[in-house]
Amino acid sequence: MTDLIEQAAQLRRLLHQYGHEYYVLDAPSVPDAEYDRIFRELQALEAAHPDLLTADSPTQRVGGAALPSFNSVIHRVPMLSLNNAFEDEEVEAFDRRVREGLGIAAATYDVGPKFDGLAMSLTYQDGVLVQAATRGDGATGEDVTRNVRTINAIPLRLHGENIPAVLEVRGEVLMFKKDFERLNDEQTAKGLKVFANPRNAAAGSLRQLDSRITASRRLAFFAYGIATCEGVTPPASQSAVMDWFATLGLPICKERDRVVGSDGLLGYYHRIGDKRPSLPYEIDGVVYKVDSFAQQEELGFVSRAPRWAIAHKFPAQEALTLVEAIDVQVGRTGAITPVARLQPVFVGGVTVTNATLHNEDEVRRKDVRIGDTVIVRRAGDVIPEVVGVVLERRPMIEQTGGDLFSAQQVPREPAYQLPKTCPVCGSHVVREEGEAIARCSGGLFCSAQRKEAIWHFAGRRAMDIDGLGGRYIDNLVELDYVHGVADLYRLTLDDFLEMKRRADERDGLTPETVQQGKVATKWAENLLEAIEASKKPPLARMLFALGIRHVGESTAKTLADWLGRLQWVRHAPAAVLRVLPDIGGTVADSIADFFAEPKNQQALDDLLSAGVEPQGERAPSAELREKLDVATLYAALNIPRLTPVRAKQLAGQFPTLAGLAQANETALVGLPTDVASAVLTWLGQPDRREQLQQLDQFQARLLDALPQASEATQGVFTGKTFVLTGTLPTLSRDEAKALIEAAGGKVSGSVSKKTDVVVAGEEAGSKLTKAQELGVPVWDEAQLQAALTT
Ligand code: IVH
Repeated sequence: MTDLIEQAAQLRRLLHQYGHEYYVLDAPSVPDAEYDRIFRELQALEAAHPDLLTADSPTQRVGGAALPSFNSVIHRVPMLSLNNAFEDEEVEAFDRRVREGLGIAAATYDVGPKFDGLAMSLTYQDGVLVQAATRGDGATGEDVTRNVRTINAIPLRLHGENIPAVLEVRGEVLMFKKDFERLNDEQTAKGLKVFANPRNAAAGSLRQLDSRITASRRLAFFAYGIATCEGVTPPASQSAVMDWFATLGLPICKERDRVVGSDGLLGYYHRIGDKRPSLPYEIDGVVYKVDSFAQQEELGFVSRAPRWAIAHKFPAQEALTLVEAIDVQVGRTGAITPVARLQPVFVGGVTVTNATLHNEDEVRRKDVRIGDTVIVRRAGDVIPEVVGVVLERRPMIEQTGGDLFSAQQVPREPAYQLPKTCPVCGSHVVREEGEAIARCSGGLFCSAQRKEAIWHFAGRRAMDIDGLGGRYIDNLVELDYVHGVADLYRLTLDDFLEMKRRADERDGLTPETVQQGKVATKWAENLLEAIEASKKPPLARMLFALGIRHVGESTAKTLADWLGRLQWVRHAPAAVLRVLPDIGGTVADSIADFFAEPKNQQALDDLLSAGVEPQGERAPSAELREKLDVATLYAALNIPRLTPVRAKQLAGQFPTLAGLAQANETALVGLPTDVASAVLTWLGQPDRREQLQQLDQFQARLLDALPQASEATQGVFTGKTFVLTGTLPTLSRDEAKALIEAAGGKVSGSVSKKTDVVVAGEEAGSKLTKAQELGVPVWDEAQLQAALTT
């Protein structure tokens, strides 16, 4: 029997160690399968010899049968709360009270995140977890020991030698954001209710009477304080206790720090605030604690909160408000987005009046109706969104049933339905199968889409027309000065002034100065200048500016890098686009569809004739040659069942595209029958042969335009590596990069011995220092421009 006891203890020791490495240190030393194997071995042993089971056995983490209710637990040391601060001044006042209370010049604080979870008290007796209790009313909580044992990050037995007889640890149970999302996905898949936030999910999971449910949820824990310690003298400060906790195997958070004075506190607040979106868990502020326990004792408590600590909270990210209306917005690509118009509410540091409802399915799922009270959330810079409806507050009306005696309460408002026609232009709203987004079918006939298209075109990362904001664009479109983007380049000073006058009249806003005959013109002159200055964009930016669906900045750059000239891009068949790296079928089709539309070609011609001229055009990349071979193009035609291998066979039989365009049944003999019939069916569809002829011609012309291998990389900067740093006086970073690359140079992100030149502008930072250290030549923009023109 003693052998068995020792064997079980050994297995438990290993599982404790591996579990700690995995869940607390995030550094597993054995594969998961090894953990599972040992786990099952221990489970079998304990099942065969129930006497061997101990309270700290990792097998207890799986949970057990449901309890009828939780027992209550009286806390040995009450679980108090913290006073809150929201403003810097309140933090400064706190620090002042601490200094004055202690009669010292500067106070040292232990600082850490304020976790948005549930307070928990863990009791370890001789190192073994014997009790876990919720906060309750602070004096009495609930015994959730069985549930807490399922939390993998919480050690069932403390590590190390110097173990207290009794240790009561305080900390927070929470759910990581990714586990929360996973849980909600699972809940949705099972048709169960989703949780509003990780805190609710953690609370719901912890308060399960059936601990097997808790075990199936991934909860986490961070220790932040000590309530009782018997048998061992604990360290003398909060920060030292946290270090000690780590050696005991208790999870503590990495973000804590030790700072001095209110400047130190506020600095930490901003550091964590910046990091907050990227933290894997939710926090709602930071907690400042006087570090020394002796000083804490001296300061003591006021009513139910310590004088030595304070919570500095972030502005609330969630608030309740009323839905006044549900409208839809029409985006650049016609996407129809339902938007809740809200009673203004202060949340996340700003007043929110609108919140996105994403799409039709989302509104249905959340069942948001006019008049509802909703939870609005604005986290960081994210667009405010409606998290859910407070159903208890939904306005209801009485409806009498068929007979006079039955009446029932029904919602006052019907469930939301997306409009069938575009509220802006009246065109049909269509929702393609499998798509979540409904779209207005009006295209550029729809003024909303036109406005969005112009807004995108003028954007900083597109044509960069400085100062052409939403209000001007609205008026330009509404008052019919601009139909297409090219019209921007034909606007005159008079147009702008007239537009302003008409808009003011329409809005009843005619300023007094105008009534007196004075007209402000500076703004219009500035706009004209900005429009003029936007006429020479790098090709990639111009392509991005066109607003082709699915073409973001990086796709636009791929097109410019590979095809070199606008002329190639605007005529490229989908098959050619599909062979370019990172351009998939959907994107290639979307580009080809865009340019197949005569209105779009016309708009592009209009731009060019208005004087817009892409910069940095050059021959297509020499590397295109291998991508333009017939087999690759065949494979890019999307012929069903024509795998790359079969496309090669087909190329063997038909070495030119034009040849395949002429093919008949007999010519296809010799190919595997299924390939032959797939090709034949494809060729039988309308326009296919024509399409092949065109592809053949395009391929020939493009191949002709490729630089010869030797000239391919020739340029003034061939073989040279550049690094850009700081702000250049006239060129944006993208523009400088495009110019260098067009001259055959490479642009790298960091300076090394291999760097040939660092181009530095204003506020150049460490890259410049590094260049100077390494003796790498440093140019300014003028030197770069000069070198380019030699
Ligand atoms: S220390 C005397 N530290 O905030 C109370 N509390 O209002 C000492 N909380 O319910 C609490 N993160 O659950 C402390 N790093 C942290 C915390 C933290 C979250 C919670 C705690 C309590 C509430 C205090």
